[in-house]
Amino acid sequence: MELSGIKYIHDFDYTNRIVFVRVDFNVPLKGKEVADDGRIRAALPTINALREQGAKLILASHLGRPKGQRVPALSMIPIGKRLAELLESEVTVADNSVGDGVARVIATLPKGGVLLLENLRFNAAEKKGDPNFAAELVRKADYYINDAFGTAHRAHASTYTAAKFFDPDHRAAGFLIAKELENLGPLLSAKKENFIAILGGAKVSDKIKVIENLLGKVDTLLIGGAMAYTFLLAQKHPIGTSLCEEDKISLARKLLLTAERRETRIILPIDHVVASSIEAEKGIITEGIAIEEEMAGFDIGPKTIELFEKEIRNAKTIFWNGPSGVFERKPFRKGTFAIANAIADSSAFSVIGGGDSASALRASGRADDVSHVSTGGGASLEFMEGKILPGIAALRAGYKFD
Ligand code: 3PG
Repeated sequence: MELSGIKYIHDFDYTNRIVFVRVDFNVPLKGKEVADDGRIRAALPTINALREQGAKLILASHLGRPKGQRVPALSMIPIGKRLAELLESEVTVADNSVGDGVARVIATLPKGGVLLLENLRFNAAEKKGDPNFAAELVRKADYYINDAFGTAHRAHASTYTAAKFFDPDHRAAGFLIAKELENLGPLLSAKKENFIAILGGAKVSDKIKVIENLLGKVDTLLIGGAMAYTFLLAQKHPIGTSLCEEDKISLARKLLLTAERRETRIILPIDHVVASSIEAEKGIITEGIAIEEEMAGFDIGPKTIELFEKEIRNAKTIFWNGPSGVFERKPFRKGTFAIANAIADSSAFSVIGGGDSASALRASGRADDVSHVSTGGGASLEFMEGKILPGIAALRAGYKFD
């Protein structure tokens, strides 16, 4: 399991030591303000614990995808400001992630001091996993802590390569990663009674591997979102002009057969909210599964909601990833919000796999009513695909770096 062979943050003495902490502060911004500080808050237990132990902190993160260019709108300055408010303490934001200027600031850090490096992806070497850049990033650090679960599926300089410059007694996972592994890990490790997964989103292609990995592990797989239309077409139901991946129809058919063989029930929508365009002011509820020629489905219908709610009520373990419809638009959000509420109302062990499902849950005000909301979108999905995440593997004691 992912947890084995990894040291945790509390295993060391950090007094007066310089600690490099890879965090995932890739948060949405609204102009120069942080629009959702969930990921910053999620890193606070690690940051606070290290400061309380008298460490000097170098925090590093990417923000957006600036493609190796210095993009002022993606500077870490607003994040440093928000972090300082949350810590009620000063946070220095460096104007770069490497270089002598940064090294000079590190040298002046007081005990408990926090330096936030500028956006790692302003330097193209970060995404390439460049060893020289990685070595430069951590050159002053005594310890390497990775707490960026959201970026653990990327083998980048700061998330992967940098770990190799520390012996196993000097690299560790932070509290956020530990919590993610403790919650996500058991979902895959043993067969569970009444385990359901609810998957949504636009494309089957994004979820193929997770579906394959879950077949046989979950009792029931509820499929919503636009990817349901590819499955419905594979079963020869008319889907009108709904989004569909024609080239994945035979794969969808194969997945349905594999599900039968592995005794996982796949439940697809039995009615829909349709419209002639995504811009429509109102949706129309279909009578049944079929969607008329000139219409496209944008959410699951009321009968499907009822069906999904019943499955959720009976479940003991729930994993949810992906909205059931275009929840950003009012006429098509009912299904996604109903799923969020049903999961929140249930007493099952429930894990929400980041991204859109987490924002839908937060928007419905129910984020505190589930067992775990992952901070990882792509990372939690790759974890559920059964992949070893490079950012986690690199923390293992016996890990052999390439
Ligand atoms: C995320 O938001 O999923 C992570 O921060 C990773 O970002 P990326 O997809 O740009 O690598």
